[in-house]
Amino acid sequence: MAEKILVTDALPYANGKLHIGHIAGVHLPGNIYVRYQRLKGRDVVHVSGSDDHGVAITLAAEKQGITPKELVDKYYPVIRGALEDFGIVYDNFSQTSRPVHHETARDYFRRLDEKGCFDVREVDQIYCPANGRFLPDRYVEGTCPHCGSDRARGDQCEACGTILDATQLIDPHSDVCNGPLEVRPANHWYFKLARMSDRLQAWIDTKTHWKVNVRNYCQGWFNEGLSDRPISRDLDWGVALPIEDAPGKVMYVWFENTLGYVSSTREWAVAQGDPDRWKDYWLNPDCKLVNFLGKDNIVFHAILWPAMIMEHGDFVLPSEIPANEFLNIEGQKLSTSRNWAVWLDEYLEDFPPDPMRYCLASISPETKDSDFTWKDFQARNNNELADIFGNFVNRTLTFINRYFDGAIPEPGTFSPEDREMLSTVAGAPDRVGACFESFQVRGAVRELIALGNQCNRYFNDQAPWNTRKTDRARCAATLHVCVQAVRVLAVVMSPILPFSAERLWKMAGLEGRVDEQIWDEIEIDASLSGRPIGEIEILFHKIEDDAIDAQIARLGRSDDRGDDGSESEEAEPEGSERNELISIEDFRQIDLRIADVVAAEPVPGTDRLLRLQLRIGAEERQIVSGIAPGYTPEKLVGRQIVVVANLEPATIRGVESRGMLLAAEDDGGAPILLGPDARVKSGSSVT
Ligand code: MF3
Ligand code: ZN
Repeated sequence: MAEKILVTDALPYANGKLHIGHIAGVHLPGNIYVRYQRLKGRDVVHVSGSDDHGVAITLAAEKQGITPKELVDKYYPVIRGALEDFGIVYDNFSQTSRPVHHETARDYFRRLDEKGCFDVREVDQIYCPANGRFLPDRYVEGTCPHCGSDRARGDQCEACGTILDATQLIDPHSDVCNGPLEVRPANHWYFKLARMSDRLQAWIDTKTHWKVNVRNYCQGWFNEGLSDRPISRDLDWGVALPIEDAPGKVMYVWFENTLGYVSSTREWAVAQGDPDRWKDYWLNPDCKLVNFLGKDNIVFHAILWPAMIMEHGDFVLPSEIPANEFLNIEGQKLSTSRNWAVWLDEYLEDFPPDPMRYCLASISPETKDSDFTWKDFQARNNNELADIFGNFVNRTLTFINRYFDGAIPEPGTFSPEDREMLSTVAGAPDRVGACFESFQVRGAVRELIALGNQCNRYFNDQAPWNTRKTDRARCAATLHVCVQAVRVLAVVMSPILPFSAERLWKMAGLEGRVDEQIWDEIEIDASLSGRPIGEIEILFHKIEDDAIDAQIARLGRSDDRGDDGSESEEAEPEGSERNELISIEDFRQIDLRIADVVAAEPVPGTDRLLRLQLRIGAEERQIVSGIAPGYTPEKLVGRQIVVVANLEPATIRGVESRGMLLAAEDDGGAPILLGPDARVKSGSSVT
């Protein structure tokens, strides 16, 4: 029987559209892996869905003035449709707000309850007197007790990844109103995670092949020691606790969303007409469970979720947790609120899906954060997709059309060079496959490029345009070998480039569909001779500079922000953007300081940017600023300027920048620096 593999992609929150960051880390690697495993003939079920509960949803619904259910139902088709347009189609894509999920999660909870996995504790909780309710952790902000980041949320610190409790935050304040918060006692259900420490650690210790990033994260948590986690919440949106005397309590979203993988598989089984079929995977110790996710989800999938599975007892534990790091855009952290993102639907208005799939695969954030830039996207499309793969395919097929009447030539006898090329081609499935098998999508791209380059080199060396006149049999053998290469190339590239691979398959006149092939049997097909090739099209179109410039210009522009419709639907009256009022508290959040410029130099390869070394009181820092049009480095050293000192760090053209200086613009748009009217102490604050 074929090996059973159950693949899950982390469920995106149903509170907005998807951008390339979502697919780069989770859905694309998941889809590539599944496409590959299917070609290997394995019995794969691939599920995902939308994550409908939690405070991210209630916040967005409140903002849009609709109910949470209306919100998640609004985004479900948007999310699912965008994924499908990118070729990311699931066996089942569910919603955690559906009854099947509530039932699954409540059953699971009951079982854990029977096994004594919970403690009810009276705990201090953050209460907002102004709103007359307990404030969910997510609405509380403050300083992280671990890393000191002052933007930690009550549930997790994004800066260091630690899971938190709102009461642990230093200086907690409300994200909704500015009223004072109090601490009041309330009953809560705690999952006894601490008692699982040894079992979890022993289990993770066996996962020596897991990615270092995942293992390091886990080790960090074990070093700190696991503590029992509160898993109930006072909210009216979520999966109600299956406990009679706990009205108004729902499960913490991270205590039920991973079970969404189970409920999505159950829904799939029902749709297959075999409602018990989900058990063949989930209750089968030989089934390989693979969870794709982003790094901010590691703790939940490597600690909390396995602990829940161990306690429950019947379900299969994850065998792989290929977690990816984050994708930055043009050197800056992706931000939906600043529209610093590339939205899937907007991308598809201008380009086909494959070049983006390919680019994201090439820069897949496997071991560290990676940076998407539009120029790099253009270069990969033009120099790799078009110039390597497109070129080889095109020269092979047009040659056959022109000089062999459009039929794949009979090879006759192969030369040593032909044989060498054929063996390179025949070995490609193993080389590329080894990368897919071990989640190394970047490595797979490198193998594909190597193969494409070898193909072009072979074509050049064999010079069929000469042998056509001097040695027709030789020419026929060359082109035959090239078609064999095209065929294998189509299959091995198909997990990453499914649409192009299928077009290529048709262009070469091959039978069936590329995704019906069998990976281990694609080597060399002797029966190709004499077959007519199909209609030739350009496989990859080059992308011009202005198309790329238009995309870059779109970044960060608020007029086409996409995270929730409410912000973009209403056009603001002309000229109003300068007059929107903010409170004094808002203004005080900006830490303006006087800084001394200690050194300055141009950033290589740019006309506008200077790298400045500043002293702000006792602190030294570096910023990057676009002031070269107005100032030479010499003119800057020794000056005092005003900087925003608490801006989040950014990498600009590969150079770290920690802060931003203030400047006005003259009529011609050149920068004019702001500074104090008389010298003041370095680091003085500006209020
Ligand atoms: N919605 C979560 C996020 O976007 C991911 C949930 S993954 C699941 O970070 F396993 F919990 F479903
Ligand atoms: Zn932190």
